[in-house]
Amino acid sequence: MSVRIAPSILSADFARLAEEVAKVEAAGADQIHVDVMDGHFVPNITIGPPVVAALRRVTKLPLDVHLMISEPDRYIEAFAKNGASIISVHAEAAIHLHRTLTRIRELGAKAGVAINPSTPVEHIRDIAGEADVVLVMSVNPGFGGQVFIPRSVNKVASTKALLAAAKSQADIEVDGGVDLTNAAALVQAGATMLVAGASIYGTGDPGAATKALRRVATGA
Ligand code: DX5
Ligand code: ZN
Repeated sequence: MSVRIAPSILSADFARLAEEVAKVEAAGADQIHVDVMDGHFVPNITIGPPVVAALRRVTKLPLDVHLMISEPDRYIEAFAKNGASIISVHAEAAIHLHRTLTRIRELGAKAGVAINPSTPVEHIRDIAGEADVVLVMSVNPGFGGQVFIPRSVNKVASTKALLAAAKSQADIEVDGGVDLTNAAALVQAGATMLVAGASIYGTGDPGAATKALRRVATGA
C-alpha cells in the first residue's frame, strides 16, 4: 500500500530548519508538515507565513501547512502565496467551510479539512467533495509528542467509508502520536498520509526514523 510520510517540523530544531528538512528529504519523505498555531484556537503559538516562504526556498518537497488558527480565511492567501502546497483548516474554526476550501483551491493549493478528536466525521459529510485531504487528528491539537488516541484507527475507517460514499478520492491524513506501533493499523484502516513529529525529530536520526516509519507503514 502506498502512503505518504509527512515529517512534522514542530519537533525539529527551529534554529536549523533547513538542515532538519534536508535530513528527511534525503531519506525519502514525501512532504513537510508545517504546524501553524495562533494561541487562540489552540493554546500554543508557532510560526507564520514568513517561515513557510523560507522553507519553500530550501526544499523541493510539498509543504503541507496545517492551520490550527481561528478565522483561517484571513490567512490562507498569505500561506498560498508563500508556497504552501496543501492548506488544511480546522472544521471547528472555519464557519463557511465550503467557501474556505473553494478559495484554497482557487489559490492553487490543495484544500484540506482537519477534524479534532471530538468532532464526528459526519460533520464534514456535505463538503467531502470539496476537500483534497481530510486530516484526522489523533491527539488534541496544540503540542507535539502527545499520546495517540487509539480510537483514531476506527475514525480513519469511518472517514474512508464517508469518502467512498461521497465518491471522493481525498487523501486521509493522520496527525498526532503516529509512530512505529500504530502506523500499519492506520494504513490498513485507510490512511494515505502519516504525519510524524516526535517519532521522527525526537529521535537521534530523523532520516533513519523516516525510513523506518515507511517500512512499517507499508508492511515492507
Ligand atoms: C499537533 C500537530 C502535529 C504534531 C504532531 O497539534 O498538529 O502535527 O506536530 O507531532 P507528534 O507526531 O509528535 O504527535
Ligand atoms: Zn499538524
